[in-house]
Amino acid sequence: MANDQLSDIGACVFDAYGTLFDVAAAAAHCKDDLGDKMAPLAAMWRDKQLSYTWLRSLMGEYVDFWRVTQDGLDYSLAALGIDGEPALRQKLLDLYFKLDAYGEVKDVLTALKGAGLKTAILSNGAPAMLKAAVDNANIGGLLDDVLSVEDLGIYKPHPSVYQLAVDRLGVAAERICFMSSNAWDAAGAGTFGFKVVWVNRFKQPPERLPGAIVTEIDSLRSLPGLLGVS
Ligand code: LAC
Repeated sequence: MANDQLSDIGACVFDAYGTLFDVAAAAAHCKDDLGDKMAPLAAMWRDKQLSYTWLRSLMGEYVDFWRVTQDGLDYSLAALGIDGEPALRQKLLDLYFKLDAYGEVKDVLTALKGAGLKTAILSNGAPAMLKAAVDNANIGGLLDDVLSVEDLGIYKPHPSVYQLAVDRLGVAAERICFMSSNAWDAAGAGTFGFKVVWVNRFKQPPERLPGAIVTEIDSLRSLPGLLGVS
């Protein structure tokens, strides 16, 4: 059912990793190589990747997300005792560079575009990574813009990142509907002033952080209905 708070939306802006693209897919494709280390590797890699973005932002030591992704992987491989396998490392990185999209993404973007809404990605991702994942999912034609923090040199949830979407799309913050599966990103976007839909794919409890969300869904499939788009 359409949500009243989402009745005057001009643009739908999506987080990339975890929201459109499955961050566990690279490790999952290496299941035979990783065995029972598959799930711990996927979780630790993502945790380290994200904490390095926050730590580097606080330090004023930006490097791009591809570097941070490699550093997070190298830490995790070492922590799990599988750091002496360069071919496996390269396979994981090649897969991460063009991560799989979640199954519903293309249909949902098609519905939003069909209703005349602007659509965009706003991501920590380096432009080349985002392009590879967008091309792999064949969704480039369904997006008006793919925005990266690269030009800002700081990561989410710094407010300047969310401001980038306002500036580039020419849509006021309160008319941007922002989707993220990352609750901390949803909190940052809510604090900034977006209308936030938390895509709680992993049934996580709410973060104890500021920033209102409009509502919570378990996959993007419910989004067109919330926006009154069939
Ligand atoms: C991104 C990370 C936060 O795409 O998932 O920005």
